[in-house]
Amino acid sequence: MKLSSHQSTIRQMKADSVAVFIPEDKKLFKQEIDNLRKSFGKKIDSVVELENFKGKKDEIISILTEGKLNSPRLYLAGVGEIKNLSLEQYRRSAASAAKHAQKLKVKHLAFSLPHFGDSQKDLTAIPSELAHAIIEGAYLSLYKFDKYQTQKKNDKTKIAELSLFDSDEANIRPLKRKLTEVRIVCEATKLARDLSNAPSNEIYPETLAQAAKQSAFRLRRIGYKATVWDKKKIEKEGFGGLLAVNSGSAKEPRFIILEHNKSGEELDTIVLIGKGITFDSGGISIKPSSGMAEMKMDMSGAAAVIGTMEAAARLKLPIHLVGLIPATENLPSGSAMKPGDIIKHYGGITSEVDNTDAEGRLILADVLAYAANYKPKAVIDLATLTGACVVALGQHATGMFGNDEQLMTKLKAAGEKTFERVWQLPLYDEYEKQIKSDIADVKNVGGKWAGAITAAWFLKKFIPKDNEYKWVHLDIAGTAMLDENLPYTPKGGSGVGVRLLVEFLKNWK
Ligand code: BES
Ligand code: ZN
Ligand code: ZN
Repeated sequence: MKLSSHQSTIRQMKADSVAVFIPEDKKLFKQEIDNLRKSFGKKIDSVVELENFKGKKDEIISILTEGKLNSPRLYLAGVGEIKNLSLEQYRRSAASAAKHAQKLKVKHLAFSLPHFGDSQKDLTAIPSELAHAIIEGAYLSLYKFDKYQTQKKNDKTKIAELSLFDSDEANIRPLKRKLTEVRIVCEATKLARDLSNAPSNEIYPETLAQAAKQSAFRLRRIGYKATVWDKKKIEKEGFGGLLAVNSGSAKEPRFIILEHNKSGEELDTIVLIGKGITFDSGGISIKPSSGMAEMKMDMSGAAAVIGTMEAAARLKLPIHLVGLIPATENLPSGSAMKPGDIIKHYGGITSEVDNTDAEGRLILADVLAYAANYKPKAVIDLATLTGACVVALGQHATGMFGNDEQLMTKLKAAGEKTFERVWQLPLYDEYEKQIKSDIADVKNVGGKWAGAITAAWFLKKFIPKDNEYKWVHLDIAGTAMLDENLPYTPKGGSGVGVRLLVEFLKNWK
């Protein structure tokens, strides 16, 4: 996808379609239509009336310009009332226009930079923020996982260029650099979506590791490296959780270590951990078959880490960033782990397996203990960990837990800005006893109630007491795998976490 910015009036702008954002407020609505009438003539009034266009949120109309503008088609994209204007509204309105344009086989869609924001109030008055939101919404809305549809129409019918224009050169100048950033973030989100959506016969531990290696290889010159442990090395290091979960699978596990700025000794170290269950059948505690196919996406935490690492490297963020991914399938077989088994994790803590379907926490336990070796300033794990989190928060918020309020406040702010929102859930001491085991240090399930919280408590147990670090756990079970389309996120793997973490890391320090 080509992204560009142009100093141009709407009349001059040469694309297949130009799009103008229109607010619903009467006075502003009239002002915008009056403006358009200057280059367009009276026809605009009749079209707006005929289509009953009011500038409401996500409303969209398409008008043939019949030579009045240099571009053959004009979109009016409603953004609703000014008092509710937000970057998110621009993402959505831009997505409406882009999806409509895609259907009409438009190749180049150009957005006029809007000017309604209140600079006192929010970010919608800043051209580079607007540009980011508009291009991001349009770009991401066009995503489709269609590589296996052999009868699909060819790429020639897809939008190939998105651009922004404004008549004022001063507004356009800052956009050039911004567009590079937007491209990086969108491509990283697309990578995460592609990995999530890929079936488990394509993406399994070995191929997930290959994908991570390929990404690092492309960026080796800017200090991005990947190391992959095979089963032997995993055994040698004593990752008992990863090995136990893997024991039912015919495919070997992998442990993937991604590192950006490894040699930057003066830089702060931040560790990202992603759950990499490439298929979760539940194991011996097998899941019901309906909906099981979704569990190919149980490596969405890993996908988010791979996407974020790639973006951080391309953006050359001044941090030492480490990505850790334990990867395995969770399958039943004669050699599979069984309820009642006891595992010894990296670092020595033991856990009793009460339910083999609570496998994510078992593989994360080894890695949370291992992460302390990096002496990190912060550790953030992302995992499609519990159905209970989906029950609590649905698809519109990621569950957040942690041991440091400041770190959580920063993630919350990044979530509001990117609209990958996180919602803190409590880790009160009172929940801890639910995962007490009579025969091991801890049990992998906590009974009927507060399943997202007891899962987080299990993870917390593996942060070494004598080597503690600041930690946040993000339960993305609801937000990573969508069962309905959202404005710029088609159902399936959402790539959640990438935009959130890049925003968070950009503002580190
Ligand atoms: N991968 C699932 C969690 C999940 C459920 C993700 C639904 C996305 C949608 C996880 O491994 C799991 O099976 N968790 C169990 C834990 C239970 C056995 C304590 C669950 O949530 O049911
Ligand atoms: Zn499971
Ligand atoms: Zn799982």
